[in-house]
Amino acid sequence: MPKVLVAPSILSADFANLQREINSVLAAGADWIHVDVMDGHFVPNITIGAPVVASLRKSTNAHLDVHLMIDKPEKYINDFIKAGCNSITIHVESTVVPHEVLSTIRNAGIIPGITLRPVTPVEVVLPYLNLVDLVLVMTVNPGFGGQSFMPEQLQKIKTIKKEVETLKRPIYIEVDGGIDDVTAKSCIEAGANVLVAGSYIFRNDYAKAIRALKFAGEKEVS
Ligand code: DX5
Ligand code: ZN
Repeated sequence: MPKVLVAPSILSADFANLQREINSVLAAGADWIHVDVMDGHFVPNITIGAPVVASLRKSTNAHLDVHLMIDKPEKYINDFIKAGCNSITIHVESTVVPHEVLSTIRNAGIIPGITLRPVTPVEVVLPYLNLVDLVLVMTVNPGFGGQSFMPEQLQKIKTIKKEVETLKRPIYIEVDGGIDDVTAKSCIEAGANVLVAGSYIFRNDYAKAIRALKFAGEKEVS
């Protein structure tokens, strides 16, 4: 079995049928469900908030992997904790108190994650590795699904992987944006072990797409 987890981003799902879409991707082999929260300030798009996550929590036992693209996540973090997320990732650029927000997440028994925009140098997140169990490398500008993968971001995955190897504990290295069977291969080779994919999964046969992603790092894809 591949050691790679696949996290479909419901940003590309049918929002009128989220429960059904989540059940379908889980049945098709998804490991986590990636939930993109956007506030129209940190990114130029608005999606969903904590009440929708709470409703999803009631309808599934799946791992809800929540990606907060919001200004000042400290203002809303308790709402997301109460909503029942399994992992919460914040943007290093979105707050002046990332360490406090990450500690709040960890103290709630939820996996804390840190991420960065493509324009942000990787060195900015490295000081937070001790506080997180997940680092998300954005390979598109956050805000929209369906954008093209930015290959120059692969170096960040390699740098993070090297740093993680010096720590005495595992950390998820997740990648998000423009992931398909081809770009997934480069990301896995660079060190990623969680693949977020929206349009590639929801615009294709779910099971075939998820299988192609999981096996993208293997020699043979059948
Ligand atoms: C972008 C979001 C992504 C998005 C990925 O801001 O963080 O999770 O849904 O979509 P695709 O896979 O279509 O690039
Ligand atoms: Zn995302």
